[in-house]
Amino acid sequence: MIKSKDFSEFLASRRTTRSFKSDPVDASIINELIEDGLTAPSWSNTRPFMVAVASGDVRDRISQDMLERWSVGSGMTSGSLKDKIKFFLTPKAWPLSDYPIMKPYPKSLQPRARRVGKELYGLLGVARGDKKARDAQWAKNYEFFNAPVELFVFIHKGLSVFAANDAGLFAENLMLSAHAKGLGACAQGAVAIWPKAVHREFNIPKGYKLVYGIAIGYPDDAEVNTFKANRIAAEEITVSKK
Ligand SMILES: Cc1cc2nc3c(=O)[nH]c(=O)nc-3n(C[C@H](O)[C@H](O)[C@H](O)COP(=O)(O)O)c2cc1C
Repeated sequence: MIKSKDFSEFLASRRTTRSFKSDPVDASIINELIEDGLTAPSWSNTRPFMVAVASGDVRDRISQDMLERWSVGSGMTSGSLKDKIKFFLTPKAWPLSDYPIMKPYPKSLQPRARRVGKELYGLLGVARGDKKARDAQWAKNYEFFNAPVELFVFIHKGLSVFAANDAGLFAENLMLSAHAKGLGACAQGAVAIWPKAVHREFNIPKGYKLVYGIAIGYPDDAEVNTFKANRIAAEEITVSKK
């Protein structure tokens, strides 16, 4: 049995990887990660999620498709009437996610999101007003940060939020397992914007909706991988008694 202190240290040592070596990850290792993911608890043990494993040519085609959609749309976000009309007339750029992307975030949560953005872009030397540099960093999502494998996680719409919850438990076990094997991972809500790109390559069963991707690979030495998102204190999420 792992000692409790060691376990806590292991949990705290997992961090999102946003720059990967191109070294391949064997399909048998990906299978082990999925098996470890499946050790998580689940609503009535239903496991209401499915995973599409994209590597090689399939991975490259999905990445290419998403990059194109992103580059078309990111050039039309000034808010001007001209850009709005252009966007309306360019279906390729439309965000057609299965679930609406919550923007802006609820007011009480905005400071946390702003802080992580400010600190991450600060580390990368990207100024707040530098839209071009920000877009370039965001576009890396659609290269899967160079990871050789991208997992696309789908949930069954019939179990509503409970399916998303179970997928999250699965994903965290999977990412911790990756970490234990010296692999890095990045959960990516960014890739949920265009489920079509994934449907084109995989037989996704009816009723399953895309919630996020997970990039998997070996971390490289890029500075972005040293980023440590802050942690809030337990008191901040513990409600007070009346
Ligand atoms: C469901 C989910 C979606 C995420 N989407 C993205 C994403 O699209 N791009 C990205 O760079 N990071 C993404 N992240 C990573 C978070 O930004 C990161 O987990 C958070 O800042 C805490 O940092 P840490 O994972 O290093 O502890 C996502 C995380 C989760 C759980």
